[in-house]
Amino acid sequence: MNIESFISRRNKLLALMQEQGGGVAVIPTAREMTRNSDNHFPFRHDSYFYYLSGFSEPEAVIVLIAGRSGNRSILFCREKNLEREIWDGYRFGPEAASEQFGFDAAHACDALDTEMPCYLEDVNTLFYSTGADNNLDAQMQNWLQAVRSKSRSGVTAPEKTLNVRCLLDEMRVFKDDREITLLQHAAIISGAAHARAMRFTQPGRYEYELEAELLHEFRRRGSQAPAYSSIVAAGANACVLHYQANNAQIKDGDLVLIDAGCELDSYASDITRTFPANGKFSGPQKTLYELVLAGQQAALDCAHPGSRYMDGHNAAVRVLTQGMLDTGLLSKDKVGNVDDAIASGAFRQFYMHGTGHWLGLDVHDAGSYREAEKNGDEKPWRKLEAGMVLTIEPGIYVRPAQDVPEEYWNIGIRIEDDVLITADGHLNLSRDTPKTVADIEAEMQQ
Ligand code: GLY
Ligand code: MN
Ligand code: MN
Repeated sequence: MNIESFISRRNKLLALMQEQGGGVAVIPTAREMTRNSDNHFPFRHDSYFYYLSGFSEPEAVIVLIAGRSGNRSILFCREKNLEREIWDGYRFGPEAASEQFGFDAAHACDALDTEMPCYLEDVNTLFYSTGADNNLDAQMQNWLQAVRSKSRSGVTAPEKTLNVRCLLDEMRVFKDDREITLLQHAAIISGAAHARAMRFTQPGRYEYELEAELLHEFRRRGSQAPAYSSIVAAGANACVLHYQANNAQIKDGDLVLIDAGCELDSYASDITRTFPANGKFSGPQKTLYELVLAGQQAALDCAHPGSRYMDGHNAAVRVLTQGMLDTGLLSKDKVGNVDDAIASGAFRQFYMHGTGHWLGLDVHDAGSYREAEKNGDEKPWRKLEAGMVLTIEPGIYVRPAQDVPEEYWNIGIRIEDDVLITADGHLNLSRDTPKTVADIEAEMQQ
C-alpha cells in the first residue's frame, strides 16, 4: 500500500486546522457490531478514519495535534496479543503500525484515558464529530472534565469544538489518482458482474440466484464485499426502490432490475441495469427503457466542469416528464404541459428519487452538494469540478393505477452509471456495462 497519500491527507487536515488557529483532532474508526449471540457483523473501518490512515483494525483512534510548535499525528490501536492473534489473526500493535502507516507515534488504545487529557490541555479548539460514537463521546466528556479540573493551576480546556468531518467532507469530494484508479477498477468488476448476471438470467430462476452470480464475480475478481446490499428485483419488485428480499422467481416477460456494486480496497461502485428476463424487450418495456436512457443521456450531458450539481437532475426530469406525457403515463388534460408537470411535481408519481450522489469510500459519499456561501435566500447547488465522482441514475417506476395505461404496469427501470468529472467533461467509469437495448439483448444471447 502506498502510504504517502494517507500521510499527505493528514498533513492537509493539519494545515486546515492550523488555519483555524490550531487544535487537536480526534477521529475514531468504527466499532465492531454484534450480529447475534457472539457473532459479529463483518468489520468495516470508518471511512473518515481510513481516509486518513489506511489502517483497517478495529478499536483504533487517530489524534492529530496542530500545535504552536508544530504538528504531530498519533495512532492509538490494539496491543499485540499472541493469544488473540491465534484466534482472530494478525494485529500490528502500536510499534509496527506507527512505522508502517507513517505516524509520528502510536500507543495502545488503553492509553487513551491517560494521554488524551494531556493533549487537550491549553488547546483552543477540539476538532471532533460528536454523535458518531456514543462511547467515545462519553470518554471525551471525561477527558475534558479532567482538563477543566486543573483550571485553578492555570490549565485551560478547549473553548470550542468544530466538526472535523466538515473539513474531511470537503477533502473527500475531490478524488486523487489512487482513488480514481480504485473507483475505476471497482466499476469494471461490477460491470463484469452485471454482465454475468444478465447472461445467467432466464425465466424460472430466482432473484437470489442472480445475486449469487454477482457475488461470485465480485469475489473472484478481488473485491472484498458488496458496497451495499444488492437489489435484484424482477417484475413488480423493481418498483420497490430499496427492494432487499431477492427471493422471488423470475417470470417470462418480467424486466429484472439489478442495482449492485462491489467495494474494492474500500472504494465503492454503484451500478444499475435493467433487462428483460427472456432476453428480449417487449414493446412497452422498450419504450420506457429508451425513455430512461434518454433521460440519463441528458443528465450525462451536464456532467462537466461548470455545471451545477442539480443541472443533471433537472435535465433528466425534463426528458422523463415529456416522455410520461408522450406515452400517456401522465395525462395532459390533468397535469398540463411539461413545464406544468415539472412545476407541480406530477412527474414524481413515476420518478420519485434524485438522479445521483457522490461516490467514493462510501456509496453515498461524503461532501456537500451546495456551495458554502449563501447567495440570496439559499446556498446554490455547487458546480462540478474535475476530480469529483458521482452517480447518474434516473428511473421510472410504474405502479398499477386507474389512469395509467395497463401495458406499463409494474415496469420498474433504473439505469445507473458512475462518472468521474474531468477537465473537459467526464469519464464514464461503468462504460463497459451493457446498456443499450441492442447491447443488453446481445449480452443475454451469449
Ligand atoms: N445503490 C444505492 C443507490 O443507488 O444510491
Ligand atoms: Mn445504486
Ligand atoms: Mn446510487
